[in-house]
Amino acid sequence: MEDLLFSRRKKESNRILLGFLNSFTYLKIITPYFIKNNNLLTTNIIHPRSENMSVDYFESLLKKNSIFEDESKLDIGYIPETLPHREKEISLLSRLFLVLITNPNSISRKILITGKTGIGKTVTVKFFGKLLMDAAIKRDITIKYVHVNCRKERTSYKVLIKIIRSMNSTFPKRGYSTQDLLEIIVDALNDGDSHLLVALDEMNYLINKRDDLIYSLTRLNDDSIGTQQRISIIGIVRDLSCLNNLDTSTLSTLQRNIIKFQNYNTNQIFEILKYRVIISLKRNSISDDLIRSVSERVFKNGDLRYGLNILWRAGKIAEFKNLKLITPECIRLGIQDLVPFSTEDVLKYISNQKLVFLFSIVKTLQIHEINRTSISSVTDLYHSLCESLAITPRLYSQLWNYLQEFKREGLIAVEVVSSAMRGRKIFIEIPGLSLQKLQKVIQELLKERDIKI
Ligand SMILES: Nc1ncnc2c1ncn2[C@@H]1O[C@H](COP(=O)(O)OP(=O)(O)OP(=O)(O)O)[C@@H](O)[C@H]1O
Ligand SMILES: [Mg+2]
Repeated sequence: MEDLLFSRRKKESNRILLGFLNSFTYLKIITPYFIKNNNLLTTNIIHPRSENMSVDYFESLLKKNSIFEDESKLDIGYIPETLPHREKEISLLSRLFLVLITNPNSISRKILITGKTGIGKTVTVKFFGKLLMDAAIKRDITIKYVHVNCRKERTSYKVLIKIIRSMNSTFPKRGYSTQDLLEIIVDALNDGDSHLLVALDEMNYLINKRDDLIYSLTRLNDDSIGTQQRISIIGIVRDLSCLNNLDTSTLSTLQRNIIKFQNYNTNQIFEILKYRVIISLKRNSISDDLIRSVSERVFKNGDLRYGLNILWRAGKIAEFKNLKLITPECIRLGIQDLVPFSTEDVLKYISNQKLVFLFSIVKTLQIHEINRTSISSVTDLYHSLCESLAITPRLYSQLWNYLQEFKREGLIAVEVVSSAMRGRKIFIEIPGLSLQKLQKVIQELLKERDIKI
């Protein structure tokens, strides 16, 4: 998960830099700055300096004012040292798992955490996992905490490999059956007299596949280890409705302990963002009023990642402008960049057919509340939209070309996953844009062209 977030952040960072280079935002902010400050761009292109006068670009960049103390602490994958407004949940988890420390391996805990997107489920569980391991180490008890994102590790096999490799990083990725892997885990836990706490984050991705891993894991203790209870589970899902697909005994096991995370209110969001600002930015880099205005936006959106992203982008813009503090304009530009006006520009020149297809992608992601979708789900929706709009749908090859164009324009990300069993599958994601806003922009453009969608 961290790898994914890191690479996503890195990609996003590259995208922003490129976006800056391409967009009006960059031209508006950066060009006047360069022109005013010695015309760096033209000087270097037209009059290259002699070797012994070479400019050390890194040195000059490093000398530039930064308003960040440590920008990684605004990263959405960063686990802070405290979690304001999740104290109650951490305390409840501690009470539930205390027995793992007071009476090791006497009991296996199964907990389910639920709540809306971006309200700290993942970060709280990761934070708690570390807390539990630290407490165990102090008492010479071996508890291993493994956080698995089931959206990333989509099959039982991958989940089990992830668990095993967290204990033995050189374990081969292939060549075993799921049952083999389960036995290897049990043996390793017995040999090390240890307990395993697995967090199955976004567990719905496993449930929907009617995978029996959750059943196997919840039953493992009873069948194979006798009296020693060596595996505990924390499942994380946004929505409890996905549990309907579980078999009744697993369901009843998991349903016994459900912790519902409540949404943050505006004031709580303010305090959380303020805390993240304090640990990542230099002092007095942003006013409380500005953080409060960002918090109000985040409250409407619900996802704290949105607030962290706005602050980080605004910080970057302030840095580019060589400012000592983030101004309301930096925030405005930061927000705009979340649905860049360059995107609206791109959309303006797109044909109706392409817009309808893009709309189908947005809608599919929204309806299913998923991060990425298969091309077949999109085409299903696309065909029914074409039917209701009385337009002839394009052929698959043409739609594929559209996807490539959208990708080039930075509207979507396309991932091709090949597997020997299932062949080639194409997944589409809209990583950097607000789906709601994108939907609105497309609808308005189509409306201008007399198409009501
Ligand atoms: N109380 C808090 N203090 C500091 N940061 C927080 C807090 N709650 C959430 N965050 C930050 O907000 C972001 C979103 O939190 P998180 O990823 O845990 O959400 P989530 O509930 O797991 O969402 P999803 O269901 O979409 O996976 C993370 O970057 C996290 O660090
Ligand atoms: Mg999460």
